[in-house]
Amino acid sequence: MSAISKIPDLDLREAAWNEFVAAVRPLLTPATRFAEREMLGPKTTMRVGGPARVYAEPASVGELRHLLVAAHRRGLPVLMLGRGSNLVIPDAGVDGLVLSLAHEHWQKFEPQPDGRICVGAGLRLKNLCGLATKAGCKGFEFLEGIPGNVGGALRMNAGAMGGWMFDVVAEVELMSFAGELRVMPKAAMHVDYRHCAELHEAIALGAVLQPAASAGPTDIRRQIDVYQKKRVESQPREPSAGCIFKNPPGTSAGRLIDEAGLKGERVGDAEVSAVHANFIVNRGHATSADIIGLVRKIRARVKDARGIDLEPEVLLYGQEWRDVL
Ligand code: EPU
Repeated sequence: MSAISKIPDLDLREAAWNEFVAAVRPLLTPATRFAEREMLGPKTTMRVGGPARVYAEPASVGELRHLLVAAHRRGLPVLMLGRGSNLVIPDAGVDGLVLSLAHEHWQKFEPQPDGRICVGAGLRLKNLCGLATKAGCKGFEFLEGIPGNVGGALRMNAGAMGGWMFDVVAEVELMSFAGELRVMPKAAMHVDYRHCAELHEAIALGAVLQPAASAGPTDIRRQIDVYQKKRVESQPREPSAGCIFKNPPGTSAGRLIDEAGLKGERVGDAEVSAVHANFIVNRGHATSADIIGLVRKIRARVKDARGIDLEPEVLLYGQEWRDVL
């Protein structure tokens, strides 16, 4: 038996992480936050889940590239964390490098002479909306209440109020997991409901956005207020990950779950919201096991009642839903 075959896989993996940390740490400036075993739950809107093996907030393109290349070389998984909505972090955490573009380097909002706007992937949608309103740029109002940033909204093609992110995109700047930069026009990208194929293989660093029209800030604000009112009336306030299931073609997951009598149904502290049935809310101390248990229950009941398989919209971070359902 060779010496290597006696070493358990877990030790090999741990050795790869230690080597990664030792290799990459000297390449980073103090402006980049870099930590091992950082708890992720508090960084999410659902507020559940364990630690990231390594967590970093790169402060520049160069440092982001160092992190990606060092992980890629060792075959270590990389996961992006946006504003922490639309995902459930497993209780055991993730054996990966989790990257967040929270540093101010990624927050840019720069109107161009041609009327388009260059934005960074870390810019929050709420700030994008506020800045666009001030600049008299219409078309971003539907994004206001989505608890995400530009990068996450591109990755998920986030949507609300009849619009979705790629409606306002002209091009996206992205970096592959191997560290290669490129710019892609929207027409070359494969985008669908809550899906952008290219951003499964790469990270969005920023985008050029195309406003629908120019308008006075007061007019734009009026539209935002209409959407805000609708959202406040129809969506819960408690911690959640947003809508938990995608809408099946031609119908609403919320309505199906509601009609199956599931509002208020609980597993542990995870509960089907009484306000909108496609939201699972955290009533205090929910775990990701509670949420997964409730997702299973909802799927089984809707399948029984209507013969429809609901597909989760939120990501189970670092895992595939099909492996746990
Ligand atoms: N409905 C019920 N019971 C419920 C919830 C909804 O009967 O508990 C009915 C409503 O009365 C309405 C229909 O279902 O007739 C659709 O409801 P809603 O207008 O709330 O829209 P939705 O399809 O449930 C979608 C997006 C939301 C987005 C809203 C508003 C999905 C999965 N959801 O919800 O996006 O905010 O439209 O535009 O596409 C998200 O993606 O995380 C999300 C929250």
